[in-house]
Amino acid sequence: MTERSRKSHAAVREKRYDWGSLERKGAQEMEFLKIVHLCKYYGKGEIQTTALEDVNLTVEKGEFVAIVGASGSGKSTLLHAIAGVDVPTSGKVFLSGQDVYAQNNEQLAIFRRRQVGLIYQFHNLIPTLNVEENIALPVLMDKRSVNEERLNGLLDLLGLQERRKHLPNQLSGGQQQRVAIGRALMNAPAVMLADEPTGSLDSRNGQEIIRLLEESHKKYRQTLLIVTHDEKIALRAERVITIADGRVAGDERQAVRA
Ligand SMILES: Nc1ncnc2c1ncn2[C@@H]1O[C@H](COP(=O)(O)OP(=O)(O)OP(=O)(O)O)[C@@H](O)[C@H]1O
Ligand SMILES: [Mg+2]
Repeated sequence: MTERSRKSHAAVREKRYDWGSLERKGAQEMEFLKIVHLCKYYGKGEIQTTALEDVNLTVEKGEFVAIVGASGSGKSTLLHAIAGVDVPTSGKVFLSGQDVYAQNNEQLAIFRRRQVGLIYQFHNLIPTLNVEENIALPVLMDKRSVNEERLNGLLDLLGLQERRKHLPNQLSGGQQQRVAIGRALMNAPAVMLADEPTGSLDSRNGQEIIRLLEESHKKYRQTLLIVTHDEKIALRAERVITIADGRVAGDERQAVRA
C-alpha cells in the first residue's frame, strides 16, 4: 500500500466512524431550538418594559408546541426573537446549532427567508404585491425561480386560486391571513412560527388553517410553534408552554390527539 492510499483509507475510516459527529447530530436534533437566558426589555429608565426575563427552553426537531399566556405576557416577543426579527437585549437563540444573532445582517436575512416561516399576529403583507407575489416573496427575494407547482398547490390548499391576482386590500381579513400562511409555507422552512394564526378566522376556517400547519409539520418534519388563546388548538399540540410576565411559567407534554 502506498503512502497516499494509506492516508486516503485512513480518511475513509475516520469518516465512516466519526462517532463524534453522529453524537453532535443527535444533540442538534434534541436541541434543535435552544433558548438561553433570553431577556428583552423595551425602552429605558422609568418607562422600561420587561417583555422577556430569563427564558430558557429547548425544543426538539419536529416538535409541535403551543405557547399560551395572558395578553402582554411576552408570547409575540418570544416568537419574534426565535424568528430572527427582534434582537434580544441579552441571551442567545440557537436554531439547528446556529447562534441566530451571531450572524451578520445579510446572513440573518437569508436565515429568515430559508429556515423560518413566521406568521405574524397582524398580517404583514406587502400592499403593492398581489396574492401570488406575496406568497412567493421569500423565493423572489432570494432571486430564485418560483416553483409554480408548489405555488399552485398552496393556492389550492388555501382556497385562494381565484384571488391570486388580488391585492391585500381587496381581500377579507381571513383571506389575508391565509396569504400570510402561504408565504410562511412556501419554502417548507425548518421551523414554523405562527402567532395567533386563527385569530381573525371563524372556527371552520380556523380549524382548516391548523390542519394545514399540522399537515406541513408532519410531512416535512417541521418544528411548529403556535401562539394561541384557543384551547382546542393548544390541545392538539404535543407540548404546551405557558408564558407569564415574560417567563416560562409552565411546560407540559400531553398525549397527542389523532
Ligand atoms: N415595541 C414595543 N415597545 C415597547 N413595549 C413593547 C413593544 N412590544 C411589546 N411591548 C411590551 O412587551 C410586553 C410583551 O408584549 P407581547 O407583544 O410579546 O405580548 P403578547 O403575549 O404577545 O400579548 P398578546 O396576547 O396581547 O398578543 C407587553 O407589556 C408590551 O406592552
Ligand atoms: Mg402577541
